[in-house]
Amino acid sequence: MNKLKIGVIYGGMSTENEVSIMSAKSVIENLDINRYEIFPIYISKNAKWYNSEEENEEIENIVEYIKNMDVIFPVLHGLYGEDGTIQGLLEMLKIPYVGCKVLASSVGMDKVYTKILFEKAGIKQAKYQYIKKIEKGYVFVEDNFEEHLLELEEIIDKVQEKLKYPMFVKPSNSGSSVGVNKANNKQELKKYIEEASKFDKKILIEEGIIGKEVECAVLGNEDVLASCVGEVKSAEEFYSYDAKYNNKASITEIPAKIPREKSEEIRKLAVKAFKAIDGTGLSRVDFFIENETNQVYANEINTLPGFTNISMYPKLFEAVGISYKELLNRLIQLSQQ
Ligand SMILES: Nc1ncnc2c1ncn2[C@@H]1O[C@H](COP(=O)(O)OP(=O)(O)O)[C@@H](O)[C@H]1O
Ligand SMILES: [Mg+2]
Repeated sequence: MNKLKIGVIYGGMSTENEVSIMSAKSVIENLDINRYEIFPIYISKNAKWYNSEEENEEIENIVEYIKNMDVIFPVLHGLYGEDGTIQGLLEMLKIPYVGCKVLASSVGMDKVYTKILFEKAGIKQAKYQYIKKIEKGYVFVEDNFEEHLLELEEIIDKVQEKLKYPMFVKPSNSGSSVGVNKANNKQELKKYIEEASKFDKKILIEEGIIGKEVECAVLGNEDVLASCVGEVKSAEEFYSYDAKYNNKASITEIPAKIPREKSEEIRKLAVKAFKAIDGTGLSRVDFFIENETNQVYANEINTLPGFTNISMYPKLFEAVGISYKELLNRLIQLSQQ
């Protein structure tokens, strides 16, 4: 049997380069060498392509190199990878690839546009406001996309009229909690809007939900399978970059200790959210269960979730009997449909 040539593209030009290296290590170690010939393709932070993260041998003709592959497995997180850009390149070259296509990738990466589609799908989520930073100041964007150019002070007044503290301020395009902050008052709101604007001109401000943080993995193209639900218990006030990757006291509980009906509701919502963004292959959909009301709120969808063997996505499927290796086989199969 001819082995399928799998190009694993990882690293990348985003703030999540290191996270991607960890995910790709697990993927490469677990791909079945009896079925696949594996080609690691590392993209450095400054956009150079290599055969490994040691950056010894630069790939000279990138297009020729990747055209040689049967399937590309993008294990990139964040901008230039999870956002539809690499997917666009692979579409142009007509190479099958694992995961979401261009549209789902770019929508999933953009928190504001994710919200707009979730809203259309009738998926409950935290109340929010979309603002933009432009050269002349800040823009308050109405639900119908009408824009009002204002001073930051005026923006803050309008946001405070609409949303209650605590608020979460996020760059619309972000991941791994980079640039995400919790504002408890006016001063913090101002500071965090300015902070978020360093990462993206589009900024999302949301009402904070006090409750459990739970996640559900989905797998499939047309027939979409949902995993069980897992809970993340952050060691810090919220699930910040540090809480995610550095604080050993952050733990996950799989399956989450929630009633069966809640878990069923979340699994259905996860598939709905995936369909709403026109997802294919895989995604991890993140939710909150509000303490006071027990209501489920969607937070976000990650089209290329963390993929180390201890990451939530593979662990959620492992818990329902799909091993990490089997998951990789299925994802590759799905990419060829
Ligand atoms: N509306 C919210 N209510 C409560 N916590 C939130 C809210 N939005 C974000 N958070 C916290 O901030 C973390 C990071 O925000 P998130 O939107 O998931 O960004 P990222 O894409 O960087 O993971 C979440 O995991 C959660 O702990
Ligand atoms: Mg998140």
